[in-house]
Amino acid sequence: MANTYVAKNAAAGEPQEDDPPLAMEAMRAVQILNPSGEITMPRPARPRVMCVANQKGGVGKTTTTVNLAVALALHGNRVLVVDLDPQGNASTGLNVPHHAGIPDVYDCLIENVPLADVAQPVEGIPNLFCVPATIDLAGAEIELVSVVARESRLGRAITAYPQEFDYVFIDCPPSLGLLTVNALCAAQEVLIPIQCEYYALEGLNQLLNNINLVKAHLNPQLEVSTILLTMYDRRTRLADAVEQDVRNHFGDKVLTSVIPRNVRVSEAPSYGQSVMTYDPGSRGATSYFEAAQEIAERGARIGVTA
Ligand SMILES: Nc1ncnc2c1ncn2[C@@H]1O[C@H](COP(=O)(O)OP(=O)(O)OP(=O)(O)O)[C@@H](O)[C@H]1O
Ligand SMILES: [Mg+2]
Repeated sequence: MANTYVAKNAAAGEPQEDDPPLAMEAMRAVQILNPSGEITMPRPARPRVMCVANQKGGVGKTTTTVNLAVALALHGNRVLVVDLDPQGNASTGLNVPHHAGIPDVYDCLIENVPLADVAQPVEGIPNLFCVPATIDLAGAEIELVSVVARESRLGRAITAYPQEFDYVFIDCPPSLGLLTVNALCAAQEVLIPIQCEYYALEGLNQLLNNINLVKAHLNPQLEVSTILLTMYDRRTRLADAVEQDVRNHFGDKVLTSVIPRNVRVSEAPSYGQSVMTYDPGSRGATSYFEAAQEIAERGARIGVTA
């Protein structure tokens, strides 16, 4: 079994990346890149706006946003990524220009510029668009305080978008300030990436409290719909314990797919790529592909019952 194999190798000090065998890898790569466009992930009956949030830094929010967006777009969904983090990491990961002077999400939030005017097509991925964040966004947290309807600026901008998307992913900064509140007001769903580490659950209550506050006062339809375990290292007992904890607490909100710690995932952004295109056969890519498929299948069911 794969687990035993990995454990043995780890114990013997061998390479620990448990990449799938070559033939499987090649098959999966074709499936993930889907050049013929034959494989589709079901489209939801109505647009799903998902806020990717966790105020803890470095837990995989941006990596998750970028890779799920690419996976869904490669498989028949129209997808928009809104980079709502002044760090601009999602824009970098999708290779969308976001240097100073480029119209960005700041202009939409503060200057009322339509989102469609600043959204850029993502090169090489049809049906994927990105609203970039430039360094300008750093000021928005403070400037928003004094604008009218400060919490609902992003929501209004998304609603006013002339084309319909199947998925809108909002990549949040690692804080619970007004930018994240805007994302929570704009979304119906929250996707929380949780890193399988010791302090993973600390601070989560604070996020859940904020979500409840937004739900009670500003956006009654908001739900935590999806939890994704990231950077899972199956050689450690700790990762397993965190997984059990999260599954006990959140039940079937937690996706069955778990994203392993995989060096390909962390290399991809420096090439302006998602891991899906950078190394489609890698464990990181296949896991994000599976997670996207699960999200799409759940979305199709929501559509039927809604
Ligand atoms: N599965 C993974 N395997 C290995 N490295 C990963 C994985 N997921 C993310 N990383 C790396 O971990 C770092 C943090 O990831 P990421 O930027 O996605 O987190 P974040 O929550 O968006 O961070 P921030 O809070 O700063 O916005 C990045 O360097 C990323 O490349
Ligand atoms: Mg980020």
